[in-house]
Amino acid sequence: MNISTHPFDSLMAITSRPPTVFVRGEGSFLWDDSGKRYLDFVQGWAVNCLGHSPPAVVDALAAQSKLLLTPSPAFYNAPSLKLAKALVDRSCFDQVFFANSGAEANEGAIKLARKFGALHRNGAYEIITFEGGFHGRTLATMSASGKKAFEPLFEPKVSGFPKARLNDLASVQRLITDKTIAVMLEPIQGEAGVWPATDHFLRDLRSLTKAHGLLLIVDEIQTGMGRTGKLFHYEHPGIEPDIMTLGKGIGGGVPLAALLATEAASCFEHGDQGGTFNGNPLMCAAGLAVLEQVNEPGFLKAVVDRGLYLESELQRISARHGLGDIRGKGLLLALDLRIPIAAAIVAQAFADGVLLNAPRPDALRFMPALNVTKAEIAAMIDCLDAILTKIGAARRVA
Ligand SMILES: Cc1ncc(COP(=O)(O)O)c(C=O)c1O
Repeated sequence: MNISTHPFDSLMAITSRPPTVFVRGEGSFLWDDSGKRYLDFVQGWAVNCLGHSPPAVVDALAAQSKLLLTPSPAFYNAPSLKLAKALVDRSCFDQVFFANSGAEANEGAIKLARKFGALHRNGAYEIITFEGGFHGRTLATMSASGKKAFEPLFEPKVSGFPKARLNDLASVQRLITDKTIAVMLEPIQGEAGVWPATDHFLRDLRSLTKAHGLLLIVDEIQTGMGRTGKLFHYEHPGIEPDIMTLGKGIGGGVPLAALLATEAASCFEHGDQGGTFNGNPLMCAAGLAVLEQVNEPGFLKAVVDRGLYLESELQRISARHGLGDIRGKGLLLALDLRIPIAAAIVAQAFADGVLLNAPRPDALRFMPALNVTKAEIAAMIDCLDAILTKIGAARRVA
């Protein structure tokens, strides 16, 4: 189809997008409406954990859609009960509230912490979050985020989110007052450019929050569901948080998110939380199909192996082109480019049929399907290597 025939102007211009319309996806590949194929290392921003349109999710959606779309959240449905039980069985949490987006799950986590403060801590409501953190685009989650670009937007923000520095325990300690109820963080800051909290810091933070009677909230919307080689990232440092949020990968491509809490932290009363589509059986059936696949023996070990292969290949081309470090874990990695050439690389890769993401002007982020093959990784690396060679030559001439 000629791009001039697409009604692009009918959509609100919320971001810059190439004038390309995608019509089909399968595994690690996407096709646009001209028939061009793209190797996808973005996967809907770490959403399609099993690749595009995985048969297990497609079949689950088809089967559930013939049975029941939604009975309303005023009634129980079987897929949401099964998925909640499966998540509880595989985690340190006792109860689940399903949401439709990561931001909504985080909004729920913020409300839950404030409710806990109202019930048990004389109305303490402040939640310490982190510079560079990203928790979503509702007003409260933008306020909780430490993204510089959000600072001037939509003032006044929701108050009560003092910002500490990642991997700096003293900066957290300094912010604790009798108004504090929780500390909330991403175990790896994804949007900021893939900056991991160290295992050491996460363990210290758990001890500090316990010592002060504070809740520890982990936002695992990007790191959860096997992305870093464990089902949940908090398993790496071996801690047990009080609250966790999941999104992105949990639905394998459909809008599903979750708020999980331990029995002690799970304090919502009737009327505190809800939503028309929350926990609907169609999305929960997809979530069950995803969790079954990720739970297959050997699945997470394969994520670790593929992650190590991708990391070593990135290291190889980084050394070859004089670039910086590789950050991250499992299949959430970033290549530090040292100079602001990320946008040019992403644009050239797009032209060459490879989808890459640049969370910062000087970094590329890689978040392929968790079942990406070594051959697909090698093909992406070849493309990136060729682009870097071209850019290097152009810079030498200039
Ligand atoms: C760590 C983290 N939290 C929250 C969100 C917001 O999720 P959603 O876009 O589904 O609202 C994102 C999305 O990128 C994220 O990476």
